[in-house]
Amino acid sequence: QELQLNLEQIEKGGYDHFMLKEIYEQPDAISDTYRGRMLVNENLIRMAGIDDNIEKFLNAKRIIIVACGTSWHAGLVAEYIFEDIARIPVEVEYASEFRYRNPIINKDDVVIAISQSGETADTMAAINLAKENGAFVFGVCNVVGSSISRETHAGAYTHAGPEIGVASTKAFTTQITVLTLIALRLAKQKGVLSNSQFNEHLRELEQIPEKVKKALESNEHIEVVASKYKDAKNFLYLGRGFNFPVALEGALKLKEISYIHAEGYPAAEMKHGPIALIDSQMPVVVIATRKGHYDKVVSNIEEIKSREGKIIGIVTEGDVEVRKRADYVIEVPETLESLTPLLTTIPLQLLSYHIAVMLDKNVDQPRNLAKSVTVE
Ligand code: G6P
Repeated sequence: QELQLNLEQIEKGGYDHFMLKEIYEQPDAISDTYRGRMLVNENLIRMAGIDDNIEKFLNAKRIIIVACGTSWHAGLVAEYIFEDIARIPVEVEYASEFRYRNPIINKDDVVIAISQSGETADTMAAINLAKENGAFVFGVCNVVGSSISRETHAGAYTHAGPEIGVASTKAFTTQITVLTLIALRLAKQKGVLSNSQFNEHLRELEQIPEKVKKALESNEHIEVVASKYKDAKNFLYLGRGFNFPVALEGALKLKEISYIHAEGYPAAEMKHGPIALIDSQMPVVVIATRKGHYDKVVSNIEEIKSREGKIIGIVTEGDVEVRKRADYVIEVPETLESLTPLLTTIPLQLLSYHIAVMLDKNVDQPRNLAKSVTVE
């Protein structure tokens, strides 16, 4: 008994839970994921799975991304990144819907399957369907040698290391890292970005691990915010653009481990429904970084405030406008707009973690959930 306890403590590396350890591993996980692929001084991205199949990507009329759960959210972030940086049309599909929908798949489609475990049954079935229809299928997996990594035509691993906590954290940010590298690689090949714009992206991506560390420094402050709202029955998460999928992922994290009902919404959609729910009992987490529709998000915040909703703003360092209006703000460093999801995700992970711990929930193994879903 004692020996087993010690072993588990060693595995957790001094952290109380695997989830917290994995949240803190993100700076290294992200740099492990771009290391060797992104050569900043040479202004180059080298990825065998892309380089060997570059024509397939360049000739693709569109990219279809299939995934489930948190990986699907990474796919949604990638949609914004691919369209913005590489100017390639992207569709993001829940694998479970795609496989049963009689979808239109052409042989000049590129399908990207995203899966931490590489074993998710619905994602696997979507891949098989795409292959049967002649599409080129590319995998983004974390587990080396997993079924999906073997069944796809080519792929790029995330180098997150083993993820034990059922709620995905470092897999998500490393998936976004790989997908950003792919978008940049294609943008350069297509000539969408100039050499200097390309280089700016590489230099900014190289800074992300340090900036994630900075974001992690808000941990104690986030604990205070968590203690304030841990008894709420509902949460709303709002974001726009690149950070809309981050709002979805923030809400999912809270649901998964604290069992509090939470919904993520694009901030502008609030007026089409969720605003009816807002009262003094409703905490609203608003991602309001300076780049990306800032003024519009500030006016959304005004609307929440006038209905007495409680506002937790995720803001850029030095923010003034949101701070004036919010109950709490949590700062993240500034970066390129397309890279903000890698930073804004961090406080949302910590917020759900602390709430779940305070509610005495089983953070690493939440009820009814499995790390890898190998049945439909
Ligand atoms: C399960 C896990 C989630 C994960 C999803 C997809 O629901 O609990 O954390 O996002 O499956 O898993 P995959 O391994 O395909 O990324």
